[in-house]
Amino acid sequence: MQLKFNETKRQLSEDIVVQGVAKLLDDYIINSKKSGSKVLQQKPPREIAEALGAEKILKHGFASESDLLSFISTYLTHTNHLKNPKYLGHQVAVTQNLSGIPEWINGVINNPSSLYEMGPAGATLEGVMINYMLQKLGWFAGSDLYDLRSFPDGGSGFLTHGGSIANLTALAAARAAIAPNAWEEGNPKDLVVIGPASSHYSIGRAISILGLGKNSFVPVPVFENEKMDIAALETVYQQVRRDGKRVMAVIANACATSTGLFDNLNAIGNFCQKHNLWYHVDGAHGASALLSSTYKEVLDGIQTADSLIWDAHKMMRVPALCTAVLFKKARHQKQAFQQKGSYVFHENEVVGIDSMPYTVECTKSALGTKLFWTFALYGEQGIVDYIDTTFGMARSFYELLQTHEDFYCPFVPESNILCFQYTKMPDYLKNQLALRYAIIDQGKFYLTSCEIQGVRYLRVVFMNPETTLEDCKALLQEIEKTAASL
Ligand SMILES: Cc1ncc(COP(=O)(O)O)c(C=O)c1O
Repeated sequence: MQLKFNETKRQLSEDIVVQGVAKLLDDYIINSKKSGSKVLQQKPPREIAEALGAEKILKHGFASESDLLSFISTYLTHTNHLKNPKYLGHQVAVTQNLSGIPEWINGVINNPSSLYEMGPAGATLEGVMINYMLQKLGWFAGSDLYDLRSFPDGGSGFLTHGGSIANLTALAAARAAIAPNAWEEGNPKDLVVIGPASSHYSIGRAISILGLGKNSFVPVPVFENEKMDIAALETVYQQVRRDGKRVMAVIANACATSTGLFDNLNAIGNFCQKHNLWYHVDGAHGASALLSSTYKEVLDGIQTADSLIWDAHKMMRVPALCTAVLFKKARHQKQAFQQKGSYVFHENEVVGIDSMPYTVECTKSALGTKLFWTFALYGEQGIVDYIDTTFGMARSFYELLQTHEDFYCPFVPESNILCFQYTKMPDYLKNQLALRYAIIDQGKFYLTSCEIQGVRYLRVVFMNPETTLEDCKALLQEIEKTAASL
């Protein structure tokens, strides 16, 4: 007997479901923005699993359309409302309302884009978007955005699932440049990576994953604001040379995760050129400033890098995850992973472009489509306005804090990230974290906290373009009220 798989036997009406989900999402957005609504509400996981009825649905599936819609409604209740203007939390994109469409399409057609033959439209848009980013950097060697040829000494790149994997990939390319045999024979013992002590943890993690060992990261001292001390860079380098080590890469922050401040990319670039060192810029958060004529000077010198990572799921409003790994010279990208796979990496010329030989992932989502879509919805100016608005809000908030003597702000912001302390409470240096948790427990505001040079601060990241100065004033009142009750 032949068994037939019948997907429609439960007969969920797709029309009812699609319309129902659209309505739920619409209501979700409207409710998220209502004054007084909560931005987050963290319940224990068991409570959420029980509310969702996860076990029953897992075993038997949705019983009906209304069962499915009621599940989604409960699911949405237990989410964080990033569309709420009081969302000032992590560096996670506040997406456009229609940002989910490429994810929906891909969920239906499932065309991974790592091989052109598996997803021609997605792979093409990835190539176009990489060319666009290379153009912004001045690394593009082609004739127009549709020119997907590879030029060994021209720029190249691909999209990957997140900044952490992107940093790992770029550092693998740096390793291939200095130690071409490492892929076959393992790492030489004398390689180190130099970078600001404030580097993102994914840099250290990448170094360990590459097998160099955590201690191969040599931190360069940073100033109080977490920016690299450029004079100390030369000192650290000379010490490394005296120790008989070779520098595999020098890292710069654009910008630092905690403070949102940018390293002096020009000075570090000059240093790398002088000593002929691989220069990697971690632009996960800040590289998007390249699009803004108002703010792009914070990235002066970025084009002197050999490799750059650039998260689109932070400041380009793309749903997580989508990161570009970009190389000034395509030949460096090609050297990073020296592998053959008989079923995917062919010697023969293939139609279109394949990113699979260069990525950690084998199968990869249609990331180019998501990135293209963020521009497609409101045009390039829509993203530029977003960056200008959110960066501008951090400055406005900084100025507001200057008028309040009970708040201390250690630096002028250069991006949409700002750290500050509330000082009018006993033991205030010790109590910033408790204050943060007390605030998010109430659910009206979502803000984070970080340590800078061992000192704890409150931290806001302006990701929502609808956040206003009135929201900031309300936050200050909330802080004062909450601190009084601690
Ligand atoms: C400077 C920097 N690099 C890398 C990352 C890691 O990026 P992802 O979260 O996409 O893995 C972050 C994340 O915040 C970051 O701020």
